[in-house]
Amino acid sequence: MKVMVIGGGGREHAVIRKLKENPAITEIFALPGNGGIAADAACVPIGAKDIPSIVSFAEANAIDYAVVTPDDPLVLGCVNALEEIGVPCFGPRAEAAIIEGSKVFAKDLMKKYNIPTARYEVFTELDAALDYVRSCPIPVVVKADGLALGKGVVVARSREEAEQAVRESMENHKFGKSGEKLVIEEFLEGPEVSVLSFTDGKTIVPMVSSMDHKCAFDGDTGPNTGGMGTVAPNPYYTEAVARRCMEEIFLPTVRAMQAEGRPFKGCLYFGLMITKDGPKVIEYNCRFGDPETQVVLPLLESDLFTIMRAVTEERLSDVEVKFRPESACCVILASRGYPGSYEKGFPLEIPEAIRDQVYVAGAALKDGRLVTNGGRVLGCTAVAESLPRAIEAAYALADQVKFENAFCRRDIGQRALRAKEEV
Ligand code: AMP
Ligand code: GLY
Repeated sequence: MKVMVIGGGGREHAVIRKLKENPAITEIFALPGNGGIAADAACVPIGAKDIPSIVSFAEANAIDYAVVTPDDPLVLGCVNALEEIGVPCFGPRAEAAIIEGSKVFAKDLMKKYNIPTARYEVFTELDAALDYVRSCPIPVVVKADGLALGKGVVVARSREEAEQAVRESMENHKFGKSGEKLVIEEFLEGPEVSVLSFTDGKTIVPMVSSMDHKCAFDGDTGPNTGGMGTVAPNPYYTEAVARRCMEEIFLPTVRAMQAEGRPFKGCLYFGLMITKDGPKVIEYNCRFGDPETQVVLPLLESDLFTIMRAVTEERLSDVEVKFRPESACCVILASRGYPGSYEKGFPLEIPEAIRDQVYVAGAALKDGRLVTNGGRVLGCTAVAESLPRAIEAAYALADQVKFENAFCRRDIGQRALRAKEEV
């Protein structure tokens, strides 16, 4: 079978590696992939948002199955377009991907179906939004309605900061159309947990939980990034919490989308806050998380392609989804300066012996050699029988990869280790 994967980051590299375990797959194409992914799939220079070219490629190459992983093509209707020409897909159609594409949609859905989340107000007028943040409790969270490359959320710890966030979005149009509407919501406190799940619109099967590290620097300081590292499982996600999440959040969400005529099929990502009043939804994503996928999929014991096809064919309840009872840690190596501006084009050495544990995110091939080509360059993932060992092994891997200007956080997993003492 010929499979194509849309996207070109570390997450897609992890998906491709896992897909390769299925012998029925004879060829994998990555659109666009990257220089590191090129070792595992045929990379095709078609951008993930170029839906007409993706459709033409699928037709011309008789693609049997497509996996669409990034948010943009999902929200833009890539799955709808591929299904129209008869290519079965893993990923939600646009009408379901809106759960990530519009925060207003997501919040209104949660309100309508009593799914626990932060209290919120929606604003479409600058003056009304400014009036609100001048009197609401602080801290407060200001969120652009649409996709904003993960930068549309400001946790404002002062009134001035909240006002500035409102102005940047609605007056200066920092996020274009995405920021014309705002959700302004209550600040929640508690540890965060990421839970990715498989769902075919009826059945939902959560994957192993994980913990992201979004700040650029150690001790959760510095600017917000796409994620500097992950561990799985997340110790705050106890069995009791998992049970509540299933009853109060996961099943109600899947049923709500079904009831709205927007059945969600694919990977539904729950960004959760474990507050003192129980788990609450911080955000939904319509896709695998990055770098959560780089710790979750290495722990998946069952065959990914079998599960994906069962999701597409709405028979998820018939297949086994089993995770190894082990721990994983992924440490991201980034270009110094990320998430701001950074230099690229530096030669990148990944020793052959550890290649299978490295997921490449931002690298290109230049004269047959890998060079850095992005902010997050790669992730090193180690799986071990305990979290401390996984962390140690992931750093041992990271220390073997060399490129100029590299930096990583040195404390990935430390919060999880401390949590083990708390819960
Ligand atoms: P998001 O882009 O929605 O994942 O938000 C980015 C980060 O902002 C989250 O991972 C949280 O750490 C934080 N955040 C979002 N919403 C809230 C909230 N209501 N209360 C506290 N922190 C929040
Ligand atoms: N790591 C967070 C995300 O993928 O949205």
